[in-house]
Amino acid sequence: MTMRAVILISGRGSNMQALLEAGLPVDFACVISNRPEAAGLAIAARHGVPTVVIDHRQHDGRAAFDAALAEEIDRHAPDLVILAGFMRVLTEDFVRHYANRLVNIHPALLPAFPGLDTHARALAAGVKLHGCTVHFVTPEVDAGPIIAQAAVPVLADDTPETLAARVLRQEHRLFPLAVRWLAEGRVRLREDGGTALLPARDGDVDDALISPTG
Ligand code: GAR
Repeated sequence: MTMRAVILISGRGSNMQALLEAGLPVDFACVISNRPEAAGLAIAARHGVPTVVIDHRQHDGRAAFDAALAEEIDRHAPDLVILAGFMRVLTEDFVRHYANRLVNIHPALLPAFPGLDTHARALAAGVKLHGCTVHFVTPEVDAGPIIAQAAVPVLADDTPETLAARVLRQEHRLFPLAVRWLAEGRVRLREDGGTALLPARDGDVDDALISPTG
């Protein structure tokens, strides 16, 4: 059975676009934005995916907005709810309602740099590797079980913008990969709270991304 998914966005929608164009075994039922001006809405429409705006400014508080959002999402009965640049913190009730079917992409190698301004913070911290993370969403922000990560080098002359662009290119690879694994039923939640990808790969892995390269 094809997995049904709803994508939530707030703006540009480049991760959403990567998902829509990846040829995934997924029925994208709807794209929902909390901002009417989100550029991603037009991209979704171009791909023939129905769009809905639920403007958080038209709702009285977080709980009321999340309730309206959940009502719209549930009309589509999705197996998966995908946060693709959705920039609202969700209430605990909302997150629990979608337990184990709510995923997010975050522009950092969690648990490093949760929250905002991840690229500037990575530069300020002097890390030599940075990247992005796809994870299940739990009530604590940016702290749910990690499904997959992609790492990139941080270069000596990077600015937050150049680093963001390097990470974003990997986001566009990583998110479709992770959603494909979810659609194929290959991501297992472990009892220790982590995830495992099935089938498990045997043996040692000796390659590493080293930065700087000298
Ligand atoms: C992406 O870099 C995504 O990782 C980030 O916002 C950007 C959205 O870009 N998400 C977060 O920071 C979530 N807290 P996009 O709209 O072009 O996909």
